[in-house]
Amino acid sequence: MAMKGVVLAGGTGSRLFPLTKITNKHLLPVYDKPMIYYPIQTLVDAGIEDILIVTGGRNAGDFLRLLANGKEFGLTHLDYTYQEGEGGIAEALGLAHHFGAGHRLCVILGDNIIEGSIREAVEDFRKQPSGAKILLKEVEDAERFGVAEMADGKILGIEEKPKKPKSNLAVTGIYMYDETVFDKVQQLKRSDRGELEITDVNNAYIAEGSMTFAQLEGWWTDAGTFESLLRANNLVAETQERKGE
Ligand code: G1P
Repeated sequence: MAMKGVVLAGGTGSRLFPLTKITNKHLLPVYDKPMIYYPIQTLVDAGIEDILIVTGGRNAGDFLRLLANGKEFGLTHLDYTYQEGEGGIAEALGLAHHFGAGHRLCVILGDNIIEGSIREAVEDFRKQPSGAKILLKEVEDAERFGVAEMADGKILGIEEKPKKPKSNLAVTGIYMYDETVFDKVQQLKRSDRGELEITDVNNAYIAEGSMTFAQLEGWWTDAGTFESLLRANNLVAETQERKGE
């Protein structure tokens, strides 16, 4: 069965107040496009064309007006669903059940922007018999992210925003899951911040020995803070200038 894509674009974007007081974080500009264009394009470039947008908050309708049926990406249809409240990334993913049940999924956070392509990793995951695959990236500020603990080239576990990171490998917001992901989401307990954590989903796959990983080529950034949003703008601008776009 074809792999499906899910873009997670909910949340209140509180770290970007007051930019996000009136609109959703994922609709803010990153250089010459709204932020959410980039993760959608990343999926489409990897050959994933059956895509669900999970959003929430007061501006959910704006996504429909902006993206409609996805014509700008060469698509003829997009799916949408609505997350009430602030339940975390894994809760948002759980809302994709009606769309994704029985399928493999490539899930991408709506504020994750990359220079390159994930096509090869997606192709590798298609060949993987079961389990999950994550993409790692070396960073200098690992404490801001989910961080992989490694030994002998294997991934032992992931810690969410550790004060003392055990490596400099951040877990990027691009995740590939088999159809068991929804069972794993259902078994999650809320974290101290009251959310269902995607890191706990990933650790469940690691615990059953079915998680693979690859290192992402080219630059990667999120855009959920003032600093990273500025960085995202500059990286996209520089890359487009270099490519002469
Ligand atoms: C989320 C995840 C984290 C991941 C990051 C990537 O964090 O919880 O594991 O490394 O996205 O962008 P957030 O920045 O949403 O708090």
